[in-house]
Amino acid sequence: MRLKGRVALLTGAAGGIGRSIALRLAGEGADLALLDITDAVNETAEIIKGQGGKAMTVLADVADARQAREAVAEVNDALGPVSCLVNNAALTANIAPIDRMADEQWERELAVNLSGPFNLTRAVLPRMVEQKWGRIVNISSLAGRGGLHRQAGYSASKAGLLGLTRNVTLEYAAHGITCNAVLPGLIETPVVATHLPQLIMDYTMSLTPARRPGKPDEVAALVAFLCSDDAAYINGAEIDIDGGARLCQVVLGSTREVEARLASIHVAHPGAAN
Ligand SMILES: NC(=O)c1ccc[n+]([C@@H]2O[C@H](COP(=O)([O-])OP(=O)(O)OC[C@H]3O[C@@H](n4cnc5c(N)ncnc54)[C@H](O)[C@@H]3O)[C@@H](O)[C@H]2O)c1
Repeated sequence: MRLKGRVALLTGAAGGIGRSIALRLAGEGADLALLDITDAVNETAEIIKGQGGKAMTVLADVADARQAREAVAEVNDALGPVSCLVNNAALTANIAPIDRMADEQWERELAVNLSGPFNLTRAVLPRMVEQKWGRIVNISSLAGRGGLHRQAGYSASKAGLLGLTRNVTLEYAAHGITCNAVLPGLIETPVVATHLPQLIMDYTMSLTPARRPGKPDEVAALVAFLCSDDAAYINGAEIDIDGGARLCQVVLGSTREVEARLASIHVAHPGAAN
């Protein structure tokens, strides 16, 4: 029960990796404030309560600074000051070559994936400073370092999140606050399992030394560690959780492009997939 007595605010808690993080933090004793833009987040809260944990939900858009500020105030009043913030909510609004990216979609990706964490971080910091203790974990992505084909907005937002992470450390480490980034590779959430074309999965796994996608629970375990006292001296770190995929050059494209690339690999290296 490393997180007993802690209040953890987690964004994007309705499903996927967020739900796993929620269950793990609750299992380690934290009281959970689960924020999402969709009311499916109530299901996560019900699971936690069914397991004897404490959870409240807040419906809000992280991109809206006012909603983020009000959400933090609501949590501070209901559960006590937020001691752990996990910025997990994100979206991909735009899959297109850069010259065909729509303004609104580019702006929405930056607003949710980068301004969202900023809005929440700014709102939780004063009480963390008062407590002389705080943990902020930003869920970035492998794309934040290496880019992701036709996802410039997503990649730029996740790279920007690394910059925000560093600055929180520079400015607040002396207050007992840590801020770290987690960079997942391909994680097999229900959405990935259902919607990612098998060819893209196979190609990605061919470039992932572990030869399997990550599990949401594996990301959750890392986040729980970073939220604990055990991680007090890890600060401003960028921790890859990708089965070694960062060591390989993953270049995705449309299914047709990947097919063509795979075909060329097979021609050049028969039996390469084995
Ligand atoms: N799944 C992967 O392979 C993978 C890989 C690298 C990084 N990530 C990152 O991990 C995190 C979780 O990913 P996931 O696959 O579980 O995604 P997901 O789409 O399943 O979950 C994202 C959650 O964020 C919520 N959300 C979206 N916009 C919001 C907003 N404006 N305000 C509040 N909530 C909002 C969604 O409703 C959803 O519940 C994201 O930051 C994602 O970028 C995922």
